[in-house]
Amino acid sequence: MQSPFLFGKTVSVNGFTNRTQDIIRLKANFLNKINSIIISPRRWGKSSLVKKVAEEIKTRQVKVVMIDMLRIRNEEDFYKAYASAVIKTTSGKINEWVETGKQFLKNIAPKISIGTDPMQDIEISFDWKSVEKNYREILNLPEKIAAAKGISIIVCLDEFQNLATFKEPELFQKRLRSEWQHHQLVTYCLYGSQQHMMTELFVKQSKAFYKFGEIIYLQKISRTNWIKYITEQFAITKKSITEQFANEIASTVKDHSYYVQQLSHLVWLQAEKKVTKNNITEAIDNLLEQNAMLYMRDTENLTTPQFNFLKALADGITTQLSSKNIIDKYQLGTSANVLKIKKALVQKELIEEGVGKVEFLDPCYELWFIKNMQV
Ligand SMILES: Nc1ncnc2c1ncn2[C@@H]1O[C@H](COP(=O)(O)OP(=O)(O)OP(=O)(O)O)[C@@H](O)[C@H]1O
Ligand SMILES: [Mg+2]
Repeated sequence: MQSPFLFGKTVSVNGFTNRTQDIIRLKANFLNKINSIIISPRRWGKSSLVKKVAEEIKTRQVKVVMIDMLRIRNEEDFYKAYASAVIKTTSGKINEWVETGKQFLKNIAPKISIGTDPMQDIEISFDWKSVEKNYREILNLPEKIAAAKGISIIVCLDEFQNLATFKEPELFQKRLRSEWQHHQLVTYCLYGSQQHMMTELFVKQSKAFYKFGEIIYLQKISRTNWIKYITEQFAITKKSITEQFANEIASTVKDHSYYVQQLSHLVWLQAEKKVTKNNITEAIDNLLEQNAMLYMRDTENLTTPQFNFLKALADGITTQLSSKNIIDKYQLGTSANVLKIKKALVQKELIEEGVGKVEFLDPCYELWFIKNMQV
């Protein structure tokens, strides 16, 4: 029988739970043409949430364009991906694609060809020199198409922070913002993982995307909801788990979406019919073993003060890390040094800094660290 728990892919139908309030809020933004920016640590469920809302909202009149920026390395690739996604999503038939391209990208004169899989693929190529001069034409493509067809368009850009790796990121951001801010029929949803980079892009006053839209800091799915979800998923597959054990699964991984699903899956594999305490213990060991290599590597790459800082966190100290007795106890140097350590660990994505509180970003790394690195 197939496991009822899903992880490693975005979930939107099977395996999707809760997020009722987030769905309502994002949907309202989409319908009211308010740009949204979604920020959260890795694997909490940003992509899944956007996919879910996109599926619920799209109609003949409302088109949703989805672009993943993970593999886009430079500005030229971005324009190609952007133009082809917009054309593909807004024109139903293949022969319309070429027409749309010709009609709306007059100065650029792109070559559009149908790729190997005719249902899916569209290949656009253009001369970079003419794009450099006329990039506005591409950035305004969705607005033009929306006006011509009498529709509205929502453009979703996943892993948006990746544009920071382009050659001239500041210039590129200015280009995007200065065109997009005039759009009346197109709404943008920008989201991405590396929390410190996303925050930098949207919260800093000096940045082009400052106040571009509503910032949604995605929260974790609640414990009560996880317990309900876990017990129901076991029941669907004719196995059973007590609420207490379901609670233990969620609390072990601190309600982190991906890990709740992964640990539940491992418990499900272990369990015959009824989940036992032993099933849970073995599943946790298994989970940590799977990630051990990665955690070892991350740990080896720490400086001694960084390592000591994590030891303090693992001891449960999450506030006042720059107080004198903590600095002395964990040999963290000076309070200026503590700031430096924190910054480096945030950049390495090992910790996150909330309001007055510092935590491990990855709950499994924390578990592993406590088990293996504490003397
Ligand atoms: N609403 C949800 N209900 C149940 N599980 C979820 C939900 N959202 C996310 N998950 C679980 O978390 C995993 C990661 O979700 P998703 O890829 O959407 O997160 P993300 O924040 O976009 O991650 P990344 O930072 O890697 O881009 C999914 O594979 C799934 O197992
Ligand atoms: Mg994602």
